[in-house]
Amino acid sequence: MANRRFTRRQVIATTSVGALGTFANLPLTSFSSNNTRKLAIHGGEKVRTAHWPEWPVWDQSAEKETLEMLRSGRWWRGRGESVADFEQKYAELMGAKRCLATASGTTALLVALQVLGVDAGDEVLVSPFTFIATYNSIFMNKALPVFVDTDPETFLIDPSKIEEKITDRTSAILPVHIYGLPVDMDKVNAVAKKHDLKVIEDACQAWLGEYKGKKLGTLGDLGCFSFQNSKNLPAGEGGAVIGNNDELMDQCYSFHNCGRPFGSVQRTSDYPMRGSNRRMQQMQAITLLSQMKRIQKDADIRLENALYLDKKLNEIPGIHTCKLVEGNNRSAYHMYPFRFVSKEFGNVTREQFLKALRAEGIPCSSGYGKQNKDGLIEEALNSRGYKRLFSEKRLKQWREENYLPGNDQLAKEAVTFYQSILLGSKSDMDDIVNAITKIYENRDSLAG
Ligand SMILES: Cc1ncc(COP(=O)(O)O)c(C=O)c1O
Repeated sequence: MANRRFTRRQVIATTSVGALGTFANLPLTSFSSNNTRKLAIHGGEKVRTAHWPEWPVWDQSAEKETLEMLRSGRWWRGRGESVADFEQKYAELMGAKRCLATASGTTALLVALQVLGVDAGDEVLVSPFTFIATYNSIFMNKALPVFVDTDPETFLIDPSKIEEKITDRTSAILPVHIYGLPVDMDKVNAVAKKHDLKVIEDACQAWLGEYKGKKLGTLGDLGCFSFQNSKNLPAGEGGAVIGNNDELMDQCYSFHNCGRPFGSVQRTSDYPMRGSNRRMQQMQAITLLSQMKRIQKDADIRLENALYLDKKLNEIPGIHTCKLVEGNNRSAYHMYPFRFVSKEFGNVTREQFLKALRAEGIPCSSGYGKQNKDGLIEEALNSRGYKRLFSEKRLKQWREENYLPGNDQLAKEAVTFYQSILLGSKSDMDDIVNAITKIYENRDSLAG
């Protein structure tokens, strides 16, 4: 698939004429067939009126276990078996030695950062194209998130830009497999090894995604997942840390359980390490165990439909599907992403495009914004604590270097479809392609 995309870009490079002119030379026969159809946003007929698959989908098989658990009063992990059962099955599914279930993805990140020694005054290298929880978790540890630019073609951290951001305070890299797209982990791990940094994978959107034959979340020191309600594996709330190092995983357990002894965390006292309560509840685990029955089949359907959309949408001028990194064996597709390039689409703005597409019956959204400029960051940097932890000189330099042109571009161009849309049929995917084609053909009626 990467090759197919590359071929398309080669076409652009070799002809080196304006994008619209270039694509006018391609055999886009479908564009001429329906260009008189009025856009739905202008009162025309919608391409699609049918509903899209709903999410989440309740599995009745979990009703019996749920009722039994409720009636038993064993609602927390200390008195029930479902959380431990889930941990064992999730570790198996991920090909990891161990799994620790947590209350949420955010708490999974907090456990991992703590156990890997990210301390107050440290710096953590992180992707800005992510959900706010990724860098909030760094702030919670009183460390400084240092944003590394995004490669707009892959939607992911640009590994070639990591090294230049390392300082003597850097203790970890936190790459994010956003939308379930695998980061080039060999490159991230090589930088980490060279500079003796820990790697925490934010795999909160990346269940069953694979890089070079390994599941995402198993490639760094620890991997973190979210099972919040919208996620491809949902439980209302929930999270997990996975890893292969027993000692580290024992510390994760101990920390998430108020610092009580566990495994190699010896009983030197009732609470031998600092800790917190980050435990998962039984109800969450029962829901997850039932939802896990469908995860592989759903992932296969999403993948097949995403590859189909890649092929079809790549033919439309101005639509740039995501470039997959070398070593990507499969993406998890929490969202299906592409870039909308206005100047190749008759100067229709992304916002006009999104509105027109929604009007055609295709739910869609933009991606993440310029999060490195998020107001909460300045609030943190100006706080008493951060001023104590970081010198004025360092914070000034941080602000000066907080310039991320690749991410800015993506913040302007990204368009996404939610994962449950990818659970539809081929003809549902054709509705998406037809709607975008229709908008392209009527682009002149939108622009301006
Ligand atoms: C990339 C990413 N990281 C972290 C999180 C935090 O997970 P949770 O919402 O379960 O706390 C999420 C959840 O949306 C996420 O998408």
